[in-house]
Amino acid sequence: MQAISDLIRDVPDFPRPGVLFKDISPLLADADGFALCIEALADPWRQLGVQAVCGIESRGFIFGAALARTLHAGFVPVRKKGKLPPPVIGIDYGLEYGVDRLEVGASALRAGERVLIVDDVLATGGTLEAARRLVDGLGAEVVGGSVVIELAALAGRPRWTGATPLHALILS
Ligand code: PRP
Ligand code: MG
Repeated sequence: MQAISDLIRDVPDFPRPGVLFKDISPLLADADGFALCIEALADPWRQLGVQAVCGIESRGFIFGAALARTLHAGFVPVRKKGKLPPPVIGIDYGLEYGVDRLEVGASALRAGERVLIVDDVLATGGTLEAARRLVDGLGAEVVGGSVVIELAALAGRPRWTGATPLHALILS
């Protein structure tokens, strides 16, 4: 995992003072590093019959779409409010300051479909848990959650209330 970690740049005080931003751009730009990252993300799920990967807008789209291809699953976007055409279902979730809303197409997943939820970073955990609830609300089966980076200091893991695993490649 060190090779992947070395391609993620820490940017202090971005986008706001006090926030340590994880810049994944060097990782995405490195052909070997990106391929290694997607293979490593896929490893825990290869034998679990994942039928759809839900990637969370926007950085979760990048990893989620590549991972869907690797797992031979479909890709379903979970988007921020107002981006998907109706009908959608949505959920409000807490941010550090205020609330935001995630949405998914009301017919994007079938009942019982085996779904993996993917994002780049687990910080406070609100985003990933909101996506999990959305998928759950459609009657699909959440096989698990997967992130590239878990920010341990923000202690977001307990927010994931799913009974299925939450896997992180890098604990930072
Ligand atoms: C960032 C990151 C995760 C989320 C994690 O996304 O990409 O999706 O925050 O935070 P949480 O665990 O505290 O909920 P952001 O909403 O900044 O948008 P972006 O992916 O479009 O850059
Ligand atoms: Mg995001």
